[in-house]
Amino acid sequence: MSDFLDLCKKRQSCRGFSEQAVEHDKLVQCVEAGRLTHSGCNAQPWSFVVVESEDMVSQIALCGQQLKQNVWLGTAKAFIIILEEHAVLSPIISCFLDSQYYAKGDLGAAAAYVCLEAASQGLGSCITGLYDRKKICELLNIPVEKQFGSVIALGYSANDTIRSKKRKAFEDIVRFV
Ligand SMILES: Cc1cc2nc3c(=O)[nH]c(=O)nc-3n(C[C@H](O)[C@H](O)[C@H](O)COP(=O)(O)O)c2cc1C
Repeated sequence: MSDFLDLCKKRQSCRGFSEQAVEHDKLVQCVEAGRLTHSGCNAQPWSFVVVESEDMVSQIALCGQQLKQNVWLGTAKAFIIILEEHAVLSPIISCFLDSQYYAKGDLGAAAAYVCLEAASQGLGSCITGLYDRKKICELLNIPVEKQFGSVIALGYSANDTIRSKKRKAFEDIVRFV
């Protein structure tokens, strides 16, 4: 197993994929990582739709290219869409909090697990935040009221160069007491 911090450094948003198809088994591994993600009260407020058929991948890619943004999505070879599901919190906690209180954080964590597993499988990934949600629901037969966690584009990167991370300085955001 590779060192986890190395994997964190290797994972980066991929905005251009090669022609190479993604193996079904690798996508299974990615969603399995998502399924294993921790969540508040272990409520697991998610479900996953894996888009791998060529025709559907092209149609989902078009849903993400509104306003001429994310045009590179046309090169994606698969998508994993994480949907928000109802969270059942433990009774002690549900007295105080709305059922979906932890869900957004949980869904973000699941997306991170999917992307990190993709990196460990040698795949590129990019979470996308701009898409026509209603059109995706229509294409994939998802109830239109369903909230999305993430739409993650996947494939083999067309460029394997690891970029340096643009992040806030460690000392600016970390405090040991
Ligand atoms: C919720 C979310 C939405 C994002 N949406 C987009 C997007 O629409 N297009 C894009 O190119 N990158 C998108 N990104 C990727 C971020 O820009 C990227 O994670 C950030 O710049 C850090 O770079 P890195 O992932 O290469 O380390 C998104 C990331 C997250 C977590």
